[in-house]
Amino acid sequence: MASYRIRTFGDPVLRRRADEVTDIDGRVAKLAQEMHAAMKEANGVGLAAPQIGVSKRLFVYEIGDSGPRTVINPVIEDAEGEWEHEEGCLSVPGLWFHITRAKRVRVRGYDLDGKEVSYEGEDMEAKLYQHEVDHLDGRLLLERLDQDQRREAMRELRRRAQGEHAGQASAAGR
Ligand code: NI
Repeated sequence: MASYRIRTFGDPVLRRRADEVTDIDGRVAKLAQEMHAAMKEANGVGLAAPQIGVSKRLFVYEIGDSGPRTVINPVIEDAEGEWEHEEGCLSVPGLWFHITRAKRVRVRGYDLDGKEVSYEGEDMEAKLYQHEVDHLDGRLLLERLDQDQRREAMRELRRRAQGEHAGQASAAGR
């Protein structure tokens, strides 16, 4: 049975720099499979391994007609231009922010066969690569916000955490 659960803001695994994958073996293939399943279940377009609690450098995604893809030990290169857009994250559920990122990037890494791959994308696709590699570096999208946006986001996250607490307390009281 699958044991993944999407980790959310506050979980320390999201703040660590994930480790390089040294062997692309059956275990990595199984992990990627679980990540694809978790991503689909959550209606996401991309998911990085730390988001299911595994501190390893790989992410999965499916965007447009790409089909399901896995990128291991990804590196962003050839970043160009700027693009501002609404961005969300499965690990910061329900919140969306205006974030400026590079408009075009190339991501280089390895697939599950250990073959070198390189994908170039712009706008949504470029955003996805930058967002997922940020996860592997222990950075959430909250760290891409300006000071005011960030303050507001933290206030909202605190409010939600308290709301959950209150909900649990009243449920327990019944
Ligand atoms: Ni995310």
